[in-house]
Amino acid sequence: MEQVVSKKRVRKGELSKNLITYYDPKSPAAEAFRTLRTNIGFASIDNELKTIVFTSPEPTDGKSTVASNFAIAMAKVNKKVLLMECDLRKPRVHRNFGIGNDIGLTHILADMVFDDLSLLNIIKAIPEVENLFVLTAGFTPPNPTEMLSSKKFKNLLDQIKKHFDIIVIDTPPVAQLTDAAIISKFADGVLLVLASGETSIQGALSAKQALTNVKANILGVVLTKINKKSGSYYNYYNYEYYTEEE
Ligand SMILES: Nc1ncnc2c1ncn2[C@@H]1O[C@H](COP(=O)(O)OP(=O)(O)OP(=O)(O)O)[C@@H](O)[C@H]1O
Ligand SMILES: [Mg+2]
Repeated sequence: MEQVVSKKRVRKGELSKNLITYYDPKSPAAEAFRTLRTNIGFASIDNELKTIVFTSPEPTDGKSTVASNFAIAMAKVNKKVLLMECDLRKPRVHRNFGIGNDIGLTHILADMVFDDLSLLNIIKAIPEVENLFVLTAGFTPPNPTEMLSSKKFKNLLDQIKKHFDIIVIDTPPVAQLTDAAIISKFADGVLLVLASGETSIQGALSAKQALTNVKANILGVVLTKINKKSGSYYNYYNYEYYTEEE
């Protein structure tokens, strides 16, 4: 796999300061991501968890930030990680990593990729984080939901799965659009990101319902933006788990 993955970045840029697991691995926030990583490990004793979707009820809850940090935390324990930007409407993950989005997932799904540009050349390595790769969203299509519901998308995911230990999928808000629920059907598990003090109980419940409706495997909740008034930005992260029984 190593030899076929492009080591180039389209545009050179800095990693976003939101990537606390990269910049400040000793912080409590980074510790929270390590704990989440461990819990995901436990969750996978019976079922293999290879594709994990991150979603949330509303825009700006923090899903892309959490997915990006989680991807780094996984890569740090030598898992080969692909972070997939499946928010086709508002792709932001690539900005976290200072890379461009000139070609990506939608180009592949729309057959706009030429033979000499194989899938594994479109996936970009993140030089700062060994084992971390990103597949950016590509152009914004007129029919994102249709693209993500396609057999082609599912086949692509199956193909990609062979090359990575874990695939972290960033998606749009689940309360407003069906995209995240559709992707969750193809994935092994879903983590629901809730923003402390922002997400309403109703919003959280309807997000859960949307995911349950498609029989998604909800692994738990990541509570973020906690404790805004008590100090540094980096104290905001936390997480919490619940199971179906609770
Ligand atoms: N733990 C946090 N504490 C404080 N601010 C945060 C935290 N996580 C993310 N943010 C900020 O919230 C904003 C939204 O974050 P992010 O893009 O991750 O959310 P999102 O749910 O992916 O949004 P969208 O639905 O628009 O894709 C960003 O400005 C980000 O810097
Ligand atoms: Mg986002």
